[in-house]
Amino acid sequence: MNTRETLKIGANGHLMIGGADCTELAAKYGTPLYVYDKKYIEDISAIYVKTLKEVYGEGRILYASKAFSCKGIYKLAEKCDLGADVVSGGELYTALSAQFPADRLVLHGNNKLDRELTYAVESDIGFIVCDAFDEIVRLGEICKSRNKVQNILLRVNPGVEAHTHHFVQTATPDSKFGFSFMNGDAMKAIRLALQTEGVNLRGLHCHIGSQIFEKESFSLAVRKMTDFYLRVKTELGYEFDTINLGGGFGIYYTDEDRKLSVEGYAEYIRAVGETLKSCVKEKNLKKPFLFLEPGRSIVGEAGITLYTAGSVKKIEGIKNYVAIDGGMFDNPRHALYGSKYTVVVANRMNDKPCEKYSVAGKCCESGDIIAEDCFLPEVHRGDILAVLSTGAYNYSMASNYNRNPVPPAILVENGKSDYLVKPQSYEDIVRNDADCKLI
Ligand SMILES: Cc1ncc(COP(=O)(O)O)c(C=O)c1O
Repeated sequence: MNTRETLKIGANGHLMIGGADCTELAAKYGTPLYVYDKKYIEDISAIYVKTLKEVYGEGRILYASKAFSCKGIYKLAEKCDLGADVVSGGELYTALSAQFPADRLVLHGNNKLDRELTYAVESDIGFIVCDAFDEIVRLGEICKSRNKVQNILLRVNPGVEAHTHHFVQTATPDSKFGFSFMNGDAMKAIRLALQTEGVNLRGLHCHIGSQIFEKESFSLAVRKMTDFYLRVKTELGYEFDTINLGGGFGIYYTDEDRKLSVEGYAEYIRAVGETLKSCVKEKNLKKPFLFLEPGRSIVGEAGITLYTAGSVKKIEGIKNYVAIDGGMFDNPRHALYGSKYTVVVANRMNDKPCEKYSVAGKCCESGDIIAEDCFLPEVHRGDILAVLSTGAYNYSMASNYNRNPVPPAILVENGKSDYLVKPQSYEDIVRNDADCKLI
C-alpha cells in the first residue's frame, strides 16, 4: 500500500485519510463513498506551481478538470493558483458556477458544439483549443457576429507514441485528436486560422496521452513541437507566443507503477520546462508562455473509494469473489481499460493478507469488476474495503447504470470532513423521467 502523505494506519488498525478514520467516515456518510484528501491536492498543486516558476518562468498549471469536476474542486483549484481546462459546456458551467475566473479557463474537445463555442466566447474564456478545420471557421463566425476576438490554440498531433493503454494514447498517427504534423494538416490549419477573422492564433497544444511514466516521451513531444514552431517561423514568418503541452503524468495505482513522493512529481514539470527552455534557446525562438494540464496526478492519489463488503463467494480451486455495494457505475475504469487498483480492508489494516480476491461490483454484468487478484486478509460481510487512487476519472465517469445512485464525494482535512457532492436519491434518478404522452 502507498502509505505516504495521504494514507496512514491509525493506532486502532484502521485506515486513515487526511486525519479521518475511514470506518468512521463510512459510518457517517454511508458507502460507496468517494473521499478526497484536501492537503494532498494543495501540496501537489503548490509543488507544480513552484517548479514551473523556478524551472521555466512564465506559465500556468491548468487543472484538467475532466479528472474530477464539481464546484468544490474548481474553488480549491483557484485557491491553489491553478487555471483549469474544461472539455464541455457542462464542465464550463460548473467552473463558472464556482466563480472560477473565466480568463484562467481553456476549452478543449474534438467536437465542440456551436452552443458550447458560443457559451465560451460569451463567457470571455481565456483560450479555446481548436481541433477541426470547420471549428476554426465556425468559431470565427461566432466571434465576428459578437464583435469579439478569441484567443485560440490549435491541437496538434506530434506523433509521439507513449507507452500507455491504447485508449488513453492520443498522439498516434490514427488518433481522433489534433491536426497531424505528419500529413500536412497542422500547417494547413495554421494558415486557415491566420486568415480567419475573429480568432487570434497564439500557439499550439498537444497532449500525448495519459498515465505516462517516461519523462523522455514528454521531452520528445517538446522537441517535436518546437521544431514545428521553428518551421512556422521560417515558412510563414509568424511566431507563436504560447504553448500548451497537456498533461498525462503517471501515478501510483499498484506496485507495478512508479511510487513518487509529492515532491517527486516535480520531475515531470522539470523535464518539460527544462527541455522547452533549451529548445527555445537552441532554435532561437520567442520564449512562449507555457501551459501544462495535469489532471490525474493532482486528484488521483488524493482520492479513495470506500465500500462495504457484501457476499463473499469462493469457487473452490478457481476464484474468490468479494462483492461490494458499488461497481462499474462509480468506477468503470477496470471494465473500460482493464485498470488495476490496490484494495485494502480499511477496518483491519494490520491483519495479514492470506487469499486473493476479485472485487466484484453489484451491476448485472460479468465485466463489472473493480480489481482482480487482490491479496487480502479473509474478508467478511460488513468489512469496509478501500480502493486506493480513485480520485481521477472515477466520479467523473460515474453513471446511473442499473439505476444505481452516483455516490457522494467528501473532502477531508485534519480529521474534519464535508460534502463536495451530496448523495443522489432515488427521486434524483427519476427526476427527468417524463410522463410521455405516447404511452
Ligand atoms: C487535452 C487534455 N489535457 C489534459 C489531460 C489530462 O491528462 P491527465 O489526467 O492524464 O493528466 C487530458 C486527458 O485526457 C486531455 O485530453
